[in-house]
Amino acid sequence: MSKALIIGGTGLIGRATAARLLAAGWEVDVTGRDPARMPGELAGVRFVRAERDDARQLGAALGEGADLVVDCVCYTAAHARLLLPLAADATSTVLISSKAVYVDDLGNHANSDVPPRFDGPIRETQPTLAPLDIDYDSREGYGTNKVAAELVALDSGLPITILRPSRVHGVGAARPREWVLVKRVLDGRRAVLLAGGGSGVVHPTAAANIAALIETVAHVPGSRVLNSADPDAPTALAITRTIARHLGHSWEEVLIPDDTLGRTPWDSPHPVVLDTSAALALGYRPAGSYAETVAAGLDWLVSLARGGADPAAGDPYFDGFFDYAAEDAYLAGASR
Ligand SMILES: NC(=O)c1ccc[n+]([C@@H]2O[C@H](COP(=O)([O-])OP(=O)(O)OC[C@H]3O[C@@H](n4cnc5c(N)ncnc54)[C@H](OP(=O)(O)O)[C@@H]3O)[C@@H](O)[C@H]2O)c1
Repeated sequence: MSKALIIGGTGLIGRATAARLLAAGWEVDVTGRDPARMPGELAGVRFVRAERDDARQLGAALGEGADLVVDCVCYTAAHARLLLPLAADATSTVLISSKAVYVDDLGNHANSDVPPRFDGPIRETQPTLAPLDIDYDSREGYGTNKVAAELVALDSGLPITILRPSRVHGVGAARPREWVLVKRVLDGRRAVLLAGGGSGVVHPTAAANIAALIETVAHVPGSRVLNSADPDAPTALAITRTIARHLGHSWEEVLIPDDTLGRTPWDSPHPVVLDTSAALALGYRPAGSYAETVAAGLDWLVSLARGGADPAAGDPYFDGFFDYAAEDAYLAGASR
């Protein structure tokens, strides 16, 4: 039986990967700090408590080695240096990075004040930010520290595959962007306003598609970088329709030419699309399209809300998406 260790395996990407490997007959261990976060569907997966900064705890979690190590909590060069001894005892290792590393010709990126403008689908050869060792939990530090982590892994020469996902969606998301639309449906809104005419595109990445790519990489170890995204890159308008259709809701689509109203998480003046041909060439086959893979996450959000939970609780990211009063005033003015 093949054995996998997933560092930070109780979160969004980890649980989808553990479920996929489990279904394929793997023995899977996951690490985290809180055993209560262990998803119910992962019966048969072993939870190992290990702090990400603790080399001894990580080493103990790996034990005698593994066929696959997946690191979902690698944000800095220091994290990557702690991953190397584990990668040396594994056949194949995956480090989860991010598309936030990419810069356009003007140096703009996913977290810059000016949104990036890429020439077309972004390949892995696109220039990246310069590596930095500053607070990684900041707009300036997230992408720069990911680059620093990537370089440590690539320079080691070990068979570590860097994956660069885009906007990850799925069951268990800490920041479930689809909630912006699911909440509107549950609130019975009869209209959806869409900034920029709903034309924004920021490529979604299903955790289930990352899991499919990880399983491919497990069988083809190597030192490389791969983009990871859904086979399609729907517009904000298309995402709105997919979600309304899945939840059996109909509403009037009101296309706002500017961004004064109707913001969504997928707004962008220029499309941000990842080229996934390198992953496909390696043998990866997606688990499904955006519409196919997002369904489970939508049902999860509905069940959370029906159970009284607020999926946006405590996350300022969601502030400003639900200004129903301003929308109603606009709609009332438009109908006069
Ligand atoms: N979500 C996105 O849209 C997105 C996009 C691009 C890239 N990524 C990358 O994807 C990776 C994983 O994201 P995710 O969405 O799966 O994360 P997540 O849902 O927040 O899960 C994080 C996992 O790591 C564990 N963890 C967190 N801090 C830890 C620590 N200090 N020590 C030990 N375990 C720790 C968590 O469990 P405990 O809290 O119990 O410890 C959990 O198992 C990250 O590297 C992120 O940069 C995410």
